[in-house]
Amino acid sequence: MEEITALAKRRGFIFQSSEIYGGINGFWDYGPLGAVLKRNVKDAWWRDTVELRDDVVAFDSSIVMHPLTWKASGHVDAFHDVFVDCKVCKHRFRFDHLKDASSCPDCGSKNSFTEPRSFNLMMKTFVGPMDDTSSETYLRPETAQGIFVNFKNVYQTARRRPPFGIAQIGKSFRNEITPGNFTFRVREFEQAELEYFVPDDGNDMDVFREWVERRKAWYASYGIAPGRLRFYELGEKERPHYARAGVDVEYMFPWGWGELESIAHRGTYDLDAHMKLSGKDLQFFDEASKTHYTPLLIESSAGMDRTTLTFLIDAYERETSDDPNGKTTERTVLRFHPKIAPVQVAVFSLARNKPELVERARTVEGSLRPVWRTQYDEGNIGQLYRRQDEIGTPFCVTIDYETLADGSVTVRSRDSMLQDRVPADRLEMHLRERL
Ligand code: GAP
Repeated sequence: MEEITALAKRRGFIFQSSEIYGGINGFWDYGPLGAVLKRNVKDAWWRDTVELRDDVVAFDSSIVMHPLTWKASGHVDAFHDVFVDCKVCKHRFRFDHLKDASSCPDCGSKNSFTEPRSFNLMMKTFVGPMDDTSSETYLRPETAQGIFVNFKNVYQTARRRPPFGIAQIGKSFRNEITPGNFTFRVREFEQAELEYFVPDDGNDMDVFREWVERRKAWYASYGIAPGRLRFYELGEKERPHYARAGVDVEYMFPWGWGELESIAHRGTYDLDAHMKLSGKDLQFFDEASKTHYTPLLIESSAGMDRTTLTFLIDAYERETSDDPNGKTTERTVLRFHPKIAPVQVAVFSLARNKPELVERARTVEGSLRPVWRTQYDEGNIGQLYRRQDEIGTPFCVTIDYETLADGSVTVRSRDSMLQDRVPADRLEMHLRERL
């Protein structure tokens, strides 16, 4: 994990937020490569969950909502964590994370904890110029509620009838007591949530299973190691009383299994809660049978920061190999799926100070740029390959003196490290076949 964190900083994937002021615990910034990586992860989710489905519509709700939203959802009354402080070393722990509640895991002191205290995880804010309780509300701790309160607006305007889904990706905030494990547990993060509404016609569990399978296929299609991913079926005691089924998607992180996504059958709980508190009707009106009913809800809620971190960790490899002269070489490589890789094709000029090579390389890079995410670089080819391996670029194209003579270029594969000589007019096709 230390190596990955160092690489993420060195290569511009992830930086500590407000680093020049000493950072702020639980907040991170995505650098030039990290921002693209995360966008690619979100796009991959959006493509599969929204664009490729004719039964899912897009949504984008506000981060700050009417405070009663959070009363109805249960977050005001029940979104609490319990923590204790060690009186000796002053470290704070989430009570439910402690294996042994009698001795401090950091300093080893016995019976040094304060009484457990409960803490609401929602971040408070004030709306308007008066910072009194009348203007108090929260930054949303999940994006889902924006969808529930708009259920009627959406089904009426998009002319949808259950079964259909509403999806959105957006920021959520939780005042986590112990943020940590890099970007795994943070206080500001992005969620990708699908709320899929179904009629109560006896097929709801089949729909739940279909979404679990779809999400399984999604992770597999981006090459996440199957042995490090599990779909943990929650038992009756592990899920909220209203949930009829639940599956947690978990990844084996360097520190153990961690949740990436929760898929849940939430019954009518959320719409019922908002109807009760607002007094407004959020039922579906079926024109054909002239009946009103509250649809059941299947939810898939994935953390985009955790998924991005998973792609980074899963791709990371330190590899040693023996060259034909018996010399052992080591390289660090990120084996990103080509669709996820921040840079897909890097184009190099063999030399920095040869204008004809530089110009040719820039032309080639410019011709590939509309098709893939490309990057131009120049200099020592060995060093350039190492840098591109470290950022996970699947292919590198080198322009050399032979290119000037016969138009051919060298294409080098990140994974096999093999090099092909390819005629310039075949380059795009060559890359297309491999990407
Ligand atoms: N609407 C359902 C919901 O929010 P959740 O299990 O509380 O369910 C869903 O959150 C996902 O959001 C988690 O699986 C995780 O990936 C992400 N998430 C939650 N809290 C997070 C945090 N503090 N830091 C990073 N991601 C978090």
